[in-house]
Amino acid sequence: MAKSRSPAFACRACGDSFPKWLGRCSSCGEMNSVVEISAADAALVARNDVRSSAAAGLALEDLNDLQARPVTRLATGLPELDRVLGGGLPQGAAVVIGGEPGIGKSTLLAQVAGAIGRERPVLYATAEESTDQVRGRCHRLGVAGKYLKLVATNDADALAGVLAKGDQAVVIVDSIQLVVKSGIEGEPGGVAQVRSCAATLVEAAKRGRTALIIVGHVTKEGGLAGPRLLEHLVDTVLSFEGDRYGELRVLRAIKNRFGATDELGLFRMGGQGLEEVQDPSSAFIASRDASVPGTVVVPTMEGNRCLLVEVQALVNPTEAPQPQRRVSGCDRDRVAMILAVLSRRLRLPLGSCDVFVNVTGGAQVDEPAADLAIALAVASAWREIPVPADLCAVGEVGLGGELRPAPRYDLRAAEARRLGFQRLLGPGPGAGKGRLKADKLADAIQQALG
Ligand code: TYD
Ligand code: MG
Repeated sequence: MAKSRSPAFACRACGDSFPKWLGRCSSCGEMNSVVEISAADAALVARNDVRSSAAAGLALEDLNDLQARPVTRLATGLPELDRVLGGGLPQGAAVVIGGEPGIGKSTLLAQVAGAIGRERPVLYATAEESTDQVRGRCHRLGVAGKYLKLVATNDADALAGVLAKGDQAVVIVDSIQLVVKSGIEGEPGGVAQVRSCAATLVEAAKRGRTALIIVGHVTKEGGLAGPRLLEHLVDTVLSFEGDRYGELRVLRAIKNRFGATDELGLFRMGGQGLEEVQDPSSAFIASRDASVPGTVVVPTMEGNRCLLVEVQALVNPTEAPQPQRRVSGCDRDRVAMILAVLSRRLRLPLGSCDVFVNVTGGAQVDEPAADLAIALAVASAWREIPVPADLCAVGEVGLGGELRPAPRYDLRAAEARRLGFQRLLGPGPGAGKGRLKADKLADAIQQALG
């Protein structure tokens, strides 16, 4: 039987503890250094003992361990998706892909399942449709993964069993809002069910080193518990967005443990499913009519890529005491600030006008570099004078009506010129023909509209 050791004495020199008093410390050899310690201190020493033996059990790894293998990544067959993931789908990663119903999540994942399923076992689990419906979609899309299997189930525990087994490279669950876990209270799609189903699936996926892709619907009404709820459970949260009535789709990472979150994937929904967009920088301005007042193009940065997007404004005098402010595709607060600057510094009578600001094609522009384009679009709409078709604008607007240069100016300028914009308006570097410099908003509007 192990001798019970309740240390009541400790050496002041080396800190080692003993059950009885010693004249000479048996650890460090110091004379008269062992003293009695209080009961509380003794308990602390005992606890530290346990901790140090537990710590000895932890396997610490070297940063430069050459044996450690890097994460292997699977190509999804869609380079734009690979790019958003940070270079492919990492083995064993848990990914949520969110988006409004009908945006194309099932289409995207059927294509991914087919591409990976050509070489590795993939399971597409549908809780929403029948396997015949999924099979039908796959056939229409020309998806033919040799190792792709389908199953129709909404049982979280059954899916967890497959995930934990580890014989599938990827399991796709479409959608989490219809999966249920027995023993958990609440409706499918409710917070309790969604959260516990996702936790069960993710835990099983980690155990089996199976990559897990969960579909989560996002609804404007908020009737369903959405993907943001799962953010802390998974490695990556992707958001699939776009104008459902148009064909452009944007995929962005909201959270990514395996790469940056600022890269953006661009797709076009066609008859054969999602296609890569050939010239992404110009995709959003393809159907622009520059002859109407209130439209301005701005070169925006998305990750390392420059995209040109169109900002539109409509300004309409109204008698209503509360004029309307409708904004889509950019930050509401930013627009409110720009309207205040236009009213106060440039004396535009916007207080008695409805103002609508829209970024076309379902693009989302949140960077301050788009301020000048928004301000110009509103001014152009108010004065009913179109901005020249070959002019684009970039710069941040300050509260004093001053303009500040946007970061990565040269890249934006080069992309704008490549796509046929002869004139670039705004603060910052650059010189020569077509470079319209302005450090004040009033001056910029003067140069653009005369
Ligand atoms: P879907 O992937 O079912 O959306 P989600 O899973 O996000 O709800 O796609 C829905 C829309 O996409 C549907 O309205 C039809 C359209 N679509 C195409 O335009 N082309 C295609 O090849 C496919 C399969 C769908
Ligand atoms: Mg679907």
